[in-house]
Amino acid sequence: MPEFRSWFQCANPECGRSYPLNEVLYKCPRCDDGSKRAGLLEVRHDTGALSAVPAREWKELFDSRYLRTTWPYGSGVWGKKEWVCPMVADENIVSAYEGGSNLFWANRFGHELGLDDLWVKLCGNSHSGSFKDLGMTVLVSMVNQMIAEGKPIQAVACASTGDTSAALAMYGAAARIPVIVLLPESKVSIPQLIQPIANGAITLAVDTDFDGCMQLVSELCSSGEIYLANSMNSLRLEGQKTIAFEMIQQFDWQPIDWVIVPVGNCGNITAISKGFLMLKQLGLLDRLPRLVGAQAAHANPLADLYRRGYPDEPFVPMKARNTQANAIQIGDPVNLWKAIEVLKQMPDHSILDVTEDELADAAAWADRGGLFCCPQTGVALGALLQLVREGRIRRGERVVVISTANGLKFPSFKLWYHAGGEGESPVDEARPAPANPRFRNTPFRCAPNLDSVRHAIDSGIQRLNAIQLG
Ligand SMILES: Cc1ncc(COP(=O)(O)O)c(C=O)c1O
Ligand SMILES: [Zn+2]
Repeated sequence: MPEFRSWFQCANPECGRSYPLNEVLYKCPRCDDGSKRAGLLEVRHDTGALSAVPAREWKELFDSRYLRTTWPYGSGVWGKKEWVCPMVADENIVSAYEGGSNLFWANRFGHELGLDDLWVKLCGNSHSGSFKDLGMTVLVSMVNQMIAEGKPIQAVACASTGDTSAALAMYGAAARIPVIVLLPESKVSIPQLIQPIANGAITLAVDTDFDGCMQLVSELCSSGEIYLANSMNSLRLEGQKTIAFEMIQQFDWQPIDWVIVPVGNCGNITAISKGFLMLKQLGLLDRLPRLVGAQAAHANPLADLYRRGYPDEPFVPMKARNTQANAIQIGDPVNLWKAIEVLKQMPDHSILDVTEDELADAAAWADRGGLFCCPQTGVALGALLQLVREGRIRRGERVVVISTANGLKFPSFKLWYHAGGEGESPVDEARPAPANPRFRNTPFRCAPNLDSVRHAIDSGIQRLNAIQLG
């Protein structure tokens, strides 16, 4: 095998300077003018060297490693190391055997929608319970390498809506690297809050929203001793792009017609698009999917720009409103420009938004088919329902919905829906009960005798039969 290389490159085509991946750098120093757009860095690969290996050989290599126990290549990320981060030495890799998440064949839900080939990629079936593990293993491994090389990094830090902090805290704990997380107070779920606490991270609950935490952590990391772990750091996107590789591999390297992904900071949609483009460029995939980004209507800056044809005018961040999909409650996405650039290369993409009732009802409907969806996945499923209703997706087409986190992280979201708006609200404002909770399922209280139990079961069956689909 030839040598493979990757590096940071300034996204400004008039500059194009490159920098080593083991330099503490988030923006091109030459182009950074303090604005969000200027000086963004991307990870680039030596595609000449990668394409010198025939596609068939790559497939065989990746298949030979997939889910095996040869460390670290059994990991869904490190099994594709040459395409992700060849510059990190194996002994510095910090891996939790990430990736390899199952594709759930959503047979019942699909048939209820009139689809024959619907799948849900369960990226939340992972060590810290979300897709963030895929990118964080790459970032923390590179930090580990830099520390081994003598760089004066004292800690890694991130702002988070709950899942990034959980992943960073977990990998930092495994590698014995101190972790600092900034969370918007009362806007993350209890399981998301307790994850970094349990892993020993310095956990700051800040009286602001995600965008405010992001601002603070960027300033905190500007000196270089605390390394920034947000997805503005392109190393994370390199790991996340393996979602595209892995799905295609799971379908025996056959194409997918539609991929639907929830969008917050715009990192994952950027990464997945990059992954598909790389597969196509290196000959492992014949055809790109139609890509759909899904946002909550309460936090929809990318959907708004898409509807307006990505106007070339200064972006005015929106103030995201409270949404049940709190992990994507972001009005000023860090990766907005990277996303728009790469989406323009995806010939057939769209960005939709869904209401609070749509996302809750879609998640509950999918749960009836055996899933247990987080609210962000509900957003992607809400977009799926819109596409089906509009007749844009045809029955035989292969559709994959990206489920980004484990539903167990979001108990109050489900309680709110099923308890009819009673109990703890998943958003911190007085909010009405769900308008159309068709799938609401509350427990029946029974006396301890068979008559009472039988009566409850009859009521339960009537309730099931009353559900109107469609
Ligand atoms: C569960 C979940 N889904 C979706 C997203 C959106 O991903 P991105 O911020 O990369 O757009 C996030 C994180 O922000 C998340 O935690
Ligand atoms: Zn530059």
